[in-house]
Amino acid sequence: MEPKAIVYTSNTGFTAQYAALLAKKTGLHAYALNEALEKVPEGSAVIYMGWIMAGKIQGFITAAKHYQVAAVCGVGMNPTGSQLTTVRQVNSLGADMPVFTLQGGLNMDKLHGFKKLILKSIGGTMGRQLMAKQDRTPEEDAILDMFRNGGDRVSMQNLKDVIAWYEQETGKKL
Ligand SMILES: Cc1cc2nc3c(=O)[nH]c(=O)nc-3n(C[C@H](O)[C@H](O)[C@H](O)COP(=O)(O)O)c2cc1C
Repeated sequence: MEPKAIVYTSNTGFTAQYAALLAKKTGLHAYALNEALEKVPEGSAVIYMGWIMAGKIQGFITAAKHYQVAAVCGVGMNPTGSQLTTVRQVNSLGADMPVFTLQGGLNMDKLHGFKKLILKSIGGTMGRQLMAKQDRTPEEDAILDMFRNGGDRVSMQNLKDVIAWYEQETGKKL
């Protein structure tokens, strides 16, 4: 299925950055979901990108109601390619749906209300557990650092599997 647009939902901007990078690379237009609902015809094939909250890809259900989702990307604070099993389960994604997870980042300054509280709480618990560990792996140190200082891990490199999928799907060479 050749996608005709990129549709995304972003809370603090990381998913929007990925949508813009992928748009630049593929030449497709990227629309925020609300804008897409006005401009992208019902039933169009799209790549959907949404930020991850407790495993759930935000906006996916709405997107899937209105569009043929050719592939879905979940953007979280965890490393690219991680938590794929959870994300498939939580979002009820069938085996035939191409799914990618991308590492976005964490920006506490842009989080508000209950989302900020939850993140602070998770960060506190995980932080204490990790701090108590003697032999932290580099990955665990990276998580600790992300909770403490925030971070932006958006890169074109993280999109390489998505781009490979797009090339295969469309027969185009980017
Ligand atoms: C309440 C809450 C729950 C989250 N749960 C997850 C999660 O389950 N997995 C994950 O990788 N990231 C999780 N995150 C981190 C966000 O997905 C991450 O910051 C992402 O880059 C946000 O994208 P955005 O800037 O497009 O909104 C969570 C963030 C919040 C605020």
